[in-house]
Amino acid sequence: MPKKIRLGILGGGGDSLIGILHRVASQINDNYEIVGAVFSPVYQESLDFAKEIDIPTNRIYKDFDALIEEELKLPEEERIQVCSVQTPNFLHYPMAKKLLDNGFHVICEKPMTMNYEEAKALEASHQKSGKVFALTHTYTGYPMVRQMREMIKNGELGKIHKVDARYYQGWINPIIHDKEKRSSVWRLDPTKAGISSCMGDIGVHAFNMVEFTTGLRVKSLLCDFNYLYEDNQMDVDGTVLIRMDDHVKGVIRSSQVATGEENGLAIAIYGEKGAFRWEQERPNFLYKMSDTQPTQIYKPGHAYNSELSLDGTKLPPGHPEGIFDSMANIYLGAARAIRGEHYNDGEFPTMQDGVRGMNFIESTVASHKQGNIWIDLD
Ligand SMILES: NC(=O)c1ccc[n+]([C@@H]2O[C@H](COP(=O)([O-])OP(=O)(O)OC[C@H]3O[C@@H](n4cnc5c(N)ncnc54)[C@H](O)[C@@H]3O)[C@@H](O)[C@H]2O)c1
Repeated sequence: MPKKIRLGILGGGGDSLIGILHRVASQINDNYEIVGAVFSPVYQESLDFAKEIDIPTNRIYKDFDALIEEELKLPEEERIQVCSVQTPNFLHYPMAKKLLDNGFHVICEKPMTMNYEEAKALEASHQKSGKVFALTHTYTGYPMVRQMREMIKNGELGKIHKVDARYYQGWINPIIHDKEKRSSVWRLDPTKAGISSCMGDIGVHAFNMVEFTTGLRVKSLLCDFNYLYEDNQMDVDGTVLIRMDDHVKGVIRSSQVATGEENGLAIAIYGEKGAFRWEQERPNFLYKMSDTQPTQIYKPGHAYNSELSLDGTKLPPGHPEGIFDSMANIYLGAARAIRGEHYNDGEFPTMQDGVRGMNFIESTVASHKQGNIWIDLD
């Protein structure tokens, strides 16, 4: 067994939503050891949290610059090899860039940057660095999403007719209707979240899912956003018409004010020979539909699944695996890449996905602002 990869964490403190998912996922396949961190902008909070989760405090740093400076003083065989960036959006770019420029591998949360320009600058740093960059579009790690991708690649749907992806949540309702709360949440603050709330936070996952599963690229889009209060005009809802390669058309629907919805990411792909439907809240069921046959349900862990899908399953069929495992699969792919081992295309989202995602977000905003016009992606 190779030695564990030395992992540093930025953000993801005890008060965070996503920190626990990354910490657990990084441990699931026994590949990583957390050796250093800045969990919070408040040093004492970082130290307290490190003690709480039993990580030695000697490499808990007061801020991100200190982490890089001090780690570079350590011998290479002790130094953090990869940092996982789990902070609010505005810190992704400066952190990821400085990490790559200083020879660290990076695992980074989405949206990758605040805007498309930053994304392209980060891509240039990444190319120069030769380091691994993995973007945590968590849902691509699910075995049944991987199965969908592989079956579409093998032509099992024939020519694709229509794509329908939606990501509906309702969590922002109690916040958006309260003036004080809607002016204090970072996801509704353009200086911290970027130019979009709903499309930047969750619509971009749906976009990534569309390109990941179909293997096609979105060529142009037309977007209609909605917001509820004049004093906060960040989008909390949006509908995007998309035109893809091969004359495929579709829609990406995204909302944070879909009352009663929890984490409703779902995708349907309709082709000439069949169709797929998959829902994140029931991730172990992939429905294959047909005009002439009864609907089939594909499930994880069976030998009929593709190599990419089976690689993301650890237990025999019938032992439900979920979001922690899905994120763990991304960490597993990144570990193979960091060790220079063979890994398959699709094991983790890349810099290219991040650049595409930022191109998408910026285009949705441009489309809406210019009167809901068609905008070409690069
Ligand atoms: N992949 C997914 O499915 C998924 C899900 C949720 C969130 N996210 C992304 O993860 C990121 C974090 O989201 P969240 O909901 O956990 O946010 P959060 O506000 O709940 O937590 C952010 C954490 O970052 C820490 N932090 C803030 N400034 C920092 C700094 N300067 N240095 C170090 N730490 C700092 C905070 O103390 C906190 O612990 C966002 O970019 C979000 O888009 C991704």
